[in-house]
Amino acid sequence: MVSSSSTPAAFVTGAANGIGEAVVARFLAGGYRVAMVDLDADRLRAAREKADPAGERTIEAVADVTDEQSVRAAISATVEAFGRLDAAHNNAGITSSGPNTHELELSAWQRTLDVDLTGVWLCMKHQLPVMLEQGSGAIVNTASIAGHIGYRNAAAYAAAKHGVVGLTKTAAIEYAPQGIRVNAVSPGPVQSDMLEASFERRGAAVRDWYYASSPTGRFASLEDIAHAVHWLASAEASFITGHCLSVDGGWIAQ
Ligand SMILES: NC(=O)c1ccc[n+]([C@@H]2O[C@H](COP(=O)([O-])OP(=O)(O)OC[C@H]3O[C@@H](n4cnc5c(N)ncnc54)[C@H](O)[C@@H]3O)[C@@H](O)[C@H]2O)c1
Repeated sequence: MVSSSSTPAAFVTGAANGIGEAVVARFLAGGYRVAMVDLDADRLRAAREKADPAGERTIEAVADVTDEQSVRAAISATVEAFGRLDAAHNNAGITSSGPNTHELELSAWQRTLDVDLTGVWLCMKHQLPVMLEQGSGAIVNTASIAGHIGYRNAAAYAAAKHGVVGLTKTAAIEYAPQGIRVNAVSPGPVQSDMLEASFERRGAAVRDWYYASSPTGRFASLEDIAHAVHWLASAEASFITGHCLSVDGGWIAQ
């Protein structure tokens, strides 16, 4: 049974680093309590100590978003700790850029689809019943510009992120009558470890191409994405559902 409590609660996956870590900080600044969820236990502990040194407004849940049991346990722990679930940011993801489509190994294809698409769906599968019981809630999934356009050398990633867009729109229309909103953010290149790792694999020419292809001449900051996620989850966005908000400095407007 979901009990009522006036302080809102959020659930963020991929919370140990990058975008997820910044989103945790934004939700805390917005007055939420936050469940920080990640696969990497050590990094998660360090991120939590940084975000909430007193440990009073957060919980940490080590979970692999591809594993239904650990997802269910993380969501149960959130509801047990906070008594509610107002906002969920399903953000954990990996990249698989590198080879052309026919050179991709089946294992890499499957792992990318498992984390980037099935992981988002599994989180929603177990968040939605809590929100249905409350009669409210806002879900924000992390898609990507690769969810809207072809993305050379990243077939699995692009397929997964297009899937996140379809999943987001479908859930939005299914649950709108019950007061639950489902949206996505579609970041362009973000100044992040994930992007740096990709450049290290793919070389300086790729980094230069990304800068040259950015209409603003810069990449997003982690905070650029965090503000958008927080806003989509907020009451100010109460009539927005099924939307994929590009936070890409105009990348896919080109
Ligand atoms: N960085 C970018 O430029 C960029 C651009 C567009 C979209 N995105 C998307 O944003 C999201 C976050 O990216 P980021 O740049 O912060 O990456 P990141 O690598 O810095 O952080 C991702 C976090 O997810 C966690 N994670 C990975 N697999 C997991 C799993 N199976 N279960 C639970 N946690 C897991 C990692 O431990 C890590 O802490 C991803 O979905 C990514 O596809 C990133």
